[in-house]
Amino acid sequence: MSDYDLAIRGGTVITASSAMSCDIGVKDGEVVALAKELGPAARDIDASGKLILPGGIEGHCHIEQVSSTGLMTSDDFESATISAAFGGNTTVIPFAAQHRGDSLRQTVEDYHACAGPKSVIDYGYHLIVSDPTPEVLGQELPALIKAGFTSFKVYMTYDALRLDDRQMLDVLSTARREGALVMIHAENHEMIRWLTEKLVDGSNTAPKYHAVSHSRLGESEATHRAITLSQLVDTPILIVHVSSEEATSEIRRAQDNGLKVYGETCPQYLFLTAEDLDKQGMEGAKFCCSPPPRDADAQEAVWRGLQNGTFQVFSSDHAPYRFDETGKLSAGPNPPFTKIANGVPGIELRLPLLFSEGVRKGRIDIHKFVELTATNVARLYGLFPRKGTIAVGADADLVLWDPDLERTVRYDDLHDRAGYTPYEGMTLTGWPVMVINRGRIVVEDNSLQVAPGSGKFLPRELSRFAAPLGRLEPEVDPARNFGAPILPAGR
Ligand code: URP
Ligand code: ZN
Ligand code: ZN
Repeated sequence: MSDYDLAIRGGTVITASSAMSCDIGVKDGEVVALAKELGPAARDIDASGKLILPGGIEGHCHIEQVSSTGLMTSDDFESATISAAFGGNTTVIPFAAQHRGDSLRQTVEDYHACAGPKSVIDYGYHLIVSDPTPEVLGQELPALIKAGFTSFKVYMTYDALRLDDRQMLDVLSTARREGALVMIHAENHEMIRWLTEKLVDGSNTAPKYHAVSHSRLGESEATHRAITLSQLVDTPILIVHVSSEEATSEIRRAQDNGLKVYGETCPQYLFLTAEDLDKQGMEGAKFCCSPPPRDADAQEAVWRGLQNGTFQVFSSDHAPYRFDETGKLSAGPNPPFTKIANGVPGIELRLPLLFSEGVRKGRIDIHKFVELTATNVARLYGLFPRKGTIAVGADADLVLWDPDLERTVRYDDLHDRAGYTPYEGMTLTGWPVMVINRGRIVVEDNSLQVAPGSGKFLPRELSRFAAPLGRLEPEVDPARNFGAPILPAGR
């Protein structure tokens, strides 16, 4: 007779705050015991010499999503979640993306139909709100937030997605009322447009000019403005994919002033630079993403932001487009940078990159690694403590890491369908070797053990990070309160 479905014995169990040498007992998909020398189990796993970390939660990825210019990502839910799993993740939260004129509710229905039969690990969705009509903000969005879609992204740039400042205020005050977390893509649209026009007029259209057109100042100006708009209506925000020292400083300053402003950065801002966009021929197109990678000083500033707590989460922003006519070269073999799909793949390497270059090289400790890649992601997006930690009662989302395993990155060893990796040839130390989601062994001996459709949809609670500071009384409600004296003097 077994006490457990699974016992993982002899490893070192790591959370955001502790390291323990103990066994883990799993029953019915949950962790039920953390102790020395557990009793019998239906299956034993020998984890000696391994670290056992909470499963990674990928909180920013674009899966089976049609871009604002009508291009489908190269990964669907099957390939993206397999790739995520091999990279040490047990949960993904991609975006159900509204296009203008679309109903948000229908967008979510359609996305469910994509994800349900294909996902191999657990998943939830953020929403993308590009059309904040009175109906969307008054009915659809509040209903979806209540149904477990408790975070959504808005864009300050991209013609087909961008919201103006007034729309941002409408959206932010709706989020405040409903308790949702707003993720913001912060770049100044007019600065991008103006620079782009000047570059194109001067026939400067090679991929490297993408980085010139998306300036650091455009990023920091929009970051500052997003913070100010959120301050006006007293709503917490998350600035996503931060690339530069300037934008990092804006977030830091807001935090120092006591505002609930959170930050996210990604591997492309630690390991790539604008010089990668200047590779031979059209190769640079592979590295075009927004904001773009900057320079070595910006990389250092972003590392500092991870170390000093300016960034709460580290995500891949996996936005995979193949280097062919279906993706990066959809506008022809030599497109101007204005017609190159934005985004880089990275869902499988997010964790190994940060483990190797962050933990192994002493830039961050293992607890910070867990916090940035799992615990804070779960807290931010309403999944904690079921996900994001190892504790009795939590889902058994466990990843065994071999901290000494050294491998050189080769696209052929990855599982996404982008056809290339920006990190080809990097030698990384420390890799996930077994991935367990709700007690199911998903990856073992470098092979997938579960079927598409076995991942579970996760309705999410309101974010633990999203409660307003409460500086505005009465509660901001644009329908009722604007025009009335709701703002404290001096604001
Ligand atoms: O270039 C990027 N990051 N593309 C993906 C879409 C987004 O804005 O995150
Ligand atoms: Zn974005
Ligand atoms: Zn993104």
